Amino acid sequence: MKRTTLLTLALACGAVFAAPKADLAKGKQIAQTVCAACHAADGNSGISSYPKLSAQHATYIIKETVAIKDGKRTTGGAAAMRPMVGSLSAQDIADVAAFYATQTPKPGEANPKDNLDLGAKIFRGGLSEKKLPACMACHGPSGAGIPGSGTDVSAYPRLGGQHKDYTMTQLKAYASGQRKSPNNMMEDVVKRMSEEEMNAVANFIQGLH
Ligand code: HEC
Ligand code: HEC
Repeated sequence: MKRTTLLTLALACGAVFAAPKADLAKGKQIAQTVCAACHAADGNSGISSYPKLSAQHATYIIKETVAIKDGKRTTGGAAAMRPMVGSLSAQDIADVAAFYATQTPKPGEANPKDNLDLGAKIFRGGLSEKKLPACMACHGPSGAGIPGSGTDVSAYPRLGGQHKDYTMTQLKAYASGQRKSPNNMMEDVVKRMSEEEMNAVANFIQGLH
């Protein structure tokens, strides 16, 4: 019993030292002044090539913002974002990530005429004949994602309600090798998919909540 208590205490202290406390008020200010033009102040971007950030996992927002700042992520319109975040400190990025993680996502809508049934099938059950796993196994049944395990995966990102155009850009970037994922998880998924299947699941995800 005593050992368990000590271990729990040690783990709790470790977590406190590892993550500097984020300042939500400062994060909100950065979101409003630096990010809002593209991602909206509450993260519910209204433009299909700019990803929604509301309720996204903070660890994932940090990882991707740093990757874009350092020029390591070059997908889609990342080059347009890079100069905007160039002067942010690690603390600024942690603050704005914590702020967006607390924002409420506005549900999007899928196009019912755009292969919606196939998209739902792929997301929930995968395609056994192609050994394509269900997206929901890693991204959650409502697309809310899963917090990271603290190892190579910073988080399984939230996908629910994301713009279809943005999702397509990412799936194609994993397919072409322009974007990499931990342990090639997403590369292994997209190599089993046709463009029609990517399109169907991206449409389904846009309406998922
Ligand atoms: C000039 C427009 C612009 C500004 C300003 C901007 N971004 Fe972005 N951001 C983008 C674009 C475009 C992408 C998508 C890149 C792609 O298609 O891969 C992106 C992607 C991201 C991603 C990756 C999201 C994901 O789901 O993988 C994060 C995180 C992010 N931005 C955070 C921020 C933060 C935080 C700020 C403010 C400090 C900011 N951005 C400011 C345009 C912008
Ligand atoms: C084995 C686990 C796993 C499965 C199954 C999986 N994903 Fe992922 N996915 C990930 C991980 C991990 C990331 C984050 C990669 C990173 O950190 O760069 C990711 C990232 C993504 C992204 C980028 C998100 C963003 O905001 O830029 C999209 C889009 C995506 N996955 C779609 C899908 C779809 C669609 C399926 C089903 C066809 C799927 N994933 C199945 C693990 C998985």
